[in-house]
Amino acid sequence: MKIIKKKSKLKELLYSLSKQKIGFVPTMGALHAGHISLIKASKYRSDITVCSIYVNPTQFNSQKDLRNYPTDIKKDVELLKKNHCDILFVPNDFELYKNNLKSCEFDLNNLDKFMEGEYRPGHFQGVATVVTKLFKIVNPDIVFFGEKDLQQLTIIKHISKESELKIVSVPTVREKNGLALSSRNKLLTKDSFNSAKIIFKSLCYCRNYINIYDIVTLKNHVIKLFEKSVFNLEYIEFVNVKTMHPVEKPCDNLAICIAATTENVRLIDNIIINAKETN
Ligand code: PAJ
Repeated sequence: MKIIKKKSKLKELLYSLSKQKIGFVPTMGALHAGHISLIKASKYRSDITVCSIYVNPTQFNSQKDLRNYPTDIKKDVELLKKNHCDILFVPNDFELYKNNLKSCEFDLNNLDKFMEGEYRPGHFQGVATVVTKLFKIVNPDIVFFGEKDLQQLTIIKHISKESELKIVSVPTVREKNGLALSSRNKLLTKDSFNSAKIIFKSLCYCRNYINIYDIVTLKNHVIKLFEKSVFNLEYIEFVNVKTMHPVEKPCDNLAICIAATTENVRLIDNIIINAKETN
């Protein structure tokens, strides 16, 4: 695996490989089996797999959250090598932002109005900014994003809709207890890791009873479940995957999304129901 820090070097290398199909997996590192499923999908669907690791400051709304974000580059490199990633791009702030560590303004078509967009103002402008910069450097044929960050996935599809780029979504990889793998899980204590199963349990409850109870009743049940947990429920929302706007009744392309926090660790998860192909 080639490890490259400079965008000029990466561009040079990719130019020499330009006849091959380039698959790209952008990440913020602290890699786990969820990230690796994206690498595997890319290995399967492209000739050259590029992974980037960059903890993007512009998508964090709190400096504390940014400072606490887990990093383990040594382990990441090992994991990527083991899974036959071809190129790892690890830029620093200057490579991507020069001296202007700020987001650009994207028209996100109100896809960022609710949930993560509402609770983390500016987050998706930061994501859109860094992803656009990375796409320009890597110039991939195909990129891979996890369904775990569903609103992010929908927003990336929106900002890329005029381009030739193919965006592939990869299902969420979970722990045995249902908890979605996340770099932030590393920040949980053993007890809170155990309690975190309430998130997926609540999503499954809503999915299982979606045709029996109305959405308000389901939400109230989940709110009650969380009252007995160490996790604080930030939101539970039933949304249309295409618009990321809340719905009052079950519909096609329905997703149920949760954000919850404990001891300053914030986790998100979702379950997609009845979704038609969104690629
Ligand atoms: P990060 O949280 O590192 O996630 C990188 C990619 O891995 C995203 O597409 C995310 O949805 C996917 N992913 C995370 N956990 C997953 C899981 N349990 N199963 C499947 N896929 C999973 O998302 C980001 O980084 C950043 O916002 C980024 C897009 C890199 C821009 O900075």
